[in-house]
Amino acid sequence: MNKALLIKGGRLVDPARKISRVGNLLLKDDKISWVSEGRENPVGKAYDTLTAKGLIVCPGFIDFHCHLREPGFESKETIATGTKAAAYGGFTTICCMPNTRPPLDSADMIVAVKNKAEQEGMIQVFPIGCVTKGRKGKDLIYMEPLVKAGVVGFSDDGDPVRTPELMEEALEIGKMFNLPVIDHCEDPNGGPPEGEEKIAARDLEVAEKTNGWVHIAHVSTAGTVELIRQAKKKGVKVTAEATPHHLLLTADMIEKRGSLAKVNPPLRTEADRQALVAGIKDGTIDIIATDHAPHTMQEKQRPYADAPAGISGFDTAVGSLMWLVQSKQLTLTELIACLTNKPAAILNKPLGSFVVDSVANVTIIDPNKEWVVDVNKFLSLGKNTPLAGAKLTGKVVATIYQGNLVYKDDSVIIGLR
Ligand code: DOR
Repeated sequence: MNKALLIKGGRLVDPARKISRVGNLLLKDDKISWVSEGRENPVGKAYDTLTAKGLIVCPGFIDFHCHLREPGFESKETIATGTKAAAYGGFTTICCMPNTRPPLDSADMIVAVKNKAEQEGMIQVFPIGCVTKGRKGKDLIYMEPLVKAGVVGFSDDGDPVRTPELMEEALEIGKMFNLPVIDHCEDPNGGPPEGEEKIAARDLEVAEKTNGWVHIAHVSTAGTVELIRQAKKKGVKVTAEATPHHLLLTADMIEKRGSLAKVNPPLRTEADRQALVAGIKDGTIDIIATDHAPHTMQEKQRPYADAPAGISGFDTAVGSLMWLVQSKQLTLTELIACLTNKPAAILNKPLGSFVVDSVANVTIIDPNKEWVVDVNKFLSLGKNTPLAGAKLTGKVVATIYQGNLVYKDDSVIIGLR
């Protein structure tokens, strides 16, 4: 069956192709079919038309780091609820971390998550496999079967790769598959922020030695940004991400919101936050990843020391990040690049740009929509966010995955023109 949708009069923002202009986009048979040069209409018949005047139309957003909690922690999140929340948040592709129960350390488990995502998920899910068996930090897993099963990287996220020897081995083998080892940099024996920087420095050294690819997850300190900047200058194969919460919030949130603001790595100082933004501007930080980490409110209502770390991020990520554009800390193109072509490059997949004949994944933002974060309306089971009650300007209003509208706000109008 032929299917088509014309997205008309929005600002097309496609950083990969240096496009930021008002125009029209035609989706046909689940593919990007045509991108206007100016404001001209496509030739041919009348299409179902989404009126995008005043809206920002981007390639579907990609999140390289989230927690879907299935199997094992289904009271926190499931593949079904997590992907729904991700679609609502503007994501069409997400990569899920392996700290499930049991952890994702075998090809069978990777295949099971992928199959479940295909059956029950709203969008595309790429799993990340463990670095060590059982995520126990002792024995390296045998990577090849997981690669064949479709992992996009390896990580013991939640914990760092335990020893430099393990990291070296993992980077050597990861290199053969051109896949990153994604490290959660935290020294279990050393306090932050030095603990993060110590492990990041170790990883960068091993990456330099092996020429393997290390990806530093949720960078949170100015020191780590500087370490990565210097390593990139030397040609070390390193990529890095920052989360929305580390780009927007600082440690004073912990006093205000208690356990809801408990996250790992913790929220830092304003100087650290600004260093992350500067890192995005000069390319030291490649991408923004949510680290969506849902927990139950029961767990999060415990005293700070006993509550689990993590922020539920899908529902609010893009809306909150728009503040960086409104306050002129980032340009719109810089922000969108961190969610589209730059993570696509890390995934090495033909995503994140309006290339004709590529899959029709599209995210539409209303930059002026004002809304209040109401966790009761979250599609994620995780209601744990320090942004509860926050007033935000800018919201995802439609998400199209493989040509299908997987989320649409009531304000978005579609009709036959
Ligand atoms: O805050 C966090 N929560 N940081 C992590 O690295 C893990 C995550 C989780 O799984 O809850």
